[in-house]
Amino acid sequence: MDDAKLILDGKEYSLPTIVGSEGEVGIDISKLRGTTGAITLDSGYGNTGSCKSSITFIDGEKGILRYRGYPIEEVADKMRFVDVCYLLIYGSLPTAAESQAFRHELTHHTLLHEDMKKFFEGYPSTAHPMSILSAMISSLASFYPDPVNGESVDLNIVRLLSKVKTIAAFSYKKSIGQPMVYPNNDLSYAGDFLNMMFSVPAEKYEINKVVENALNLLLILHADHEQNCSTSTVRMVGSSQANLYASMAAGVSALWGPLHGGANQKVIKMLEMIQADGGDYDKYVKLAKDKDSDFRLMGFGHRVYKNFDPRAQILRAAADKVLTNLGVTDPLLNIAKKLEQIALEDTYFVDRKLYPNVDFYSGILYRAMGIPTDMYTVMFAIGRLPGWIAQWKEMREDPNARIYRPRQIYTGETKRSL
Ligand code: CMC
Repeated sequence: MDDAKLILDGKEYSLPTIVGSEGEVGIDISKLRGTTGAITLDSGYGNTGSCKSSITFIDGEKGILRYRGYPIEEVADKMRFVDVCYLLIYGSLPTAAESQAFRHELTHHTLLHEDMKKFFEGYPSTAHPMSILSAMISSLASFYPDPVNGESVDLNIVRLLSKVKTIAAFSYKKSIGQPMVYPNNDLSYAGDFLNMMFSVPAEKYEINKVVENALNLLLILHADHEQNCSTSTVRMVGSSQANLYASMAAGVSALWGPLHGGANQKVIKMLEMIQADGGDYDKYVKLAKDKDSDFRLMGFGHRVYKNFDPRAQILRAAADKVLTNLGVTDPLLNIAKKLEQIALEDTYFVDRKLYPNVDFYSGILYRAMGIPTDMYTVMFAIGRLPGWIAQWKEMREDPNARIYRPRQIYTGETKRSL
């Protein structure tokens, strides 16, 4: 593709163009300031490509999401989460031997250092598990420092993927005052997490296959989503060459916000509020459209998807199936469907291309699976971890990577004297 032309203050400049493997066009402005003295301003980064990446492709207009080229629908239908982790982090599907070895590694690094158990004791029982998760992931750096002298970072990657579910389950047990349940190497990744969450020493706990498979699906659907807020945070922090754990802990913090991963918790709170208010959908749709109100339909809208979010479509179908298989009737599912129907026919939402996103139906599934509301964003974080790791690794292995350091347009006072 030809260079782009920029005319600034009467002078013409050529800017190289770059075309991605799916035909996405970018204008390379890396020399812009050096040659013109100007910078670009893109509040919220809606038009800014911060990196080249070969991990995940999204076409928001067409509702396409692919991990390493594989459509999300196929990945969700045919794969297990552990293999998706491998695919995202190492770039190709594992062979049978690689899959087995990776699974073995992930199973044998699940224990937390016993000293870390003491950290949980210091938290109030009301502590939000995202706050604990972020702190504990950061603390792992104290126990497993950065590899030195050319050692591979792979062991720390495995440690992180293995221990994150132990940390998550321990934080839940702490909040309800039950004894922490240690990992069990006989169980699958999802099964082990469910066992640590829900079993108690006093009783036998049977893992429900429907719940285990639903969790596997949810983790896969959350596994990566290119340069979203938390992933960009991970890259931002990692660009200073901060260690793996510090970078991931920052990702957890970014995910926590209600406009990002925290939305799944807010969706359920919103549906409960509508239910408690007698199911008056129109009132809340009106409120969401009212510019004087800060109420938004949580789980609606997306910066990138302007047609449909393929993850939400998969989850909508899964919610019906899982609830039926578990014999659960949840009035919130009906409220969600009704709300979706009303919003999708309303010109406000249609004109702005606002559709249900991944968080709209995930909360309904978590509820049916017995996961407490405060843990929903933690579940998102466990699922997103392989994506953050893959993006961090890609950046760290890029010989041209530089520290992230945006510029600004200063609008404050010019020089003045005291
Ligand atoms: N309810 C009502 N109006 C909305 C909503 C909503 N959920 N989302 C966007 N709008 C309106 C917004 O008011 C604006 O209207 P106008 O053009 O008249 O000013 C227009 O749509 C564009 O919105 P925006 O805030 O400029 O869009 P954005 O790309 O900056 O934000 C978003 C994307 C996801 C933060 C936003 O849609 C939102 O707040 N949604 C609710 C929170 C949510 O569900 N977040 C989860 C995102 S998906 C999972 C993830 O990646 O974390």
